[in-house]
Amino acid sequence: MAPISFARGAPSPSCLDPELVADCARVALARDGTTILSYGAGGGYGPLRDVLARRHDVDPARIFLTTGGLQGFVFYAAVQLARRPGRVLVEGPTYDRPLKLLRWQGIDVVALEMDDEGLVPDALEAELERGHEISFLYTIPTFQNPSGRTIGEQRRIRIVELARAYGLDVLEDDPYGLVRYEGTAPPRLHVLEGART
Ligand SMILES: Cc1ncc(COP(=O)(O)O)c(C=O)c1O
Repeated sequence: MAPISFARGAPSPSCLDPELVADCARVALARDGTTILSYGAGGGYGPLRDVLARRHDVDPARIFLTTGGLQGFVFYAAVQLARRPGRVLVEGPTYDRPLKLLRWQGIDVVALEMDDEGLVPDALEAELERGHEISFLYTIPTFQNPSGRTIGEQRRIRIVELARAYGLDVLEDDPYGLVRYEGTAPPRLHVLEGART
């Protein structure tokens, strides 16, 4: 029997469009070649940052382009763990790659209880009440990997309120938010938190 891997959400090759990406690269090179083939801006290609900033309704200066979400995780975790050493809270279970990266560094990872709607806020509050140093919460609120669960709006509000009350930093991973076939997407945590500038 062939195993089915729930570890990664890799796109089907039929969804990939190399020609379209090649066209985009051609346009970007024709327009800004001498800038982007040199060092360019540290945060990445400006016009792409502008598009993403509009999508997320934030200042383009807050957009930092990485080679995929996992590299974003690595950069964030390195800075955050140095700035604020402590445990990392995750959903139990969660995406295996961040877990591996954290464990390689010997970081204490605390898996929080989930139910059918995802992360249980009472479990988060109980952990925060314990009083240990906490570096950050890593959460995948929409179509969580591996459970596929999505946290509803009321629960998201509660998580944001807890984060505010306890000064908790939250890393929201949202690789699947746009892969929705029906229903309305609940607001992202960062939108509820009001981090728009
Ligand atoms: C929750 C989650 N975050 C991030 C990623 C990886 O994203 P990227 O390929 O952009 O590094 C995956 C891929 O499976 C994932 O499931």
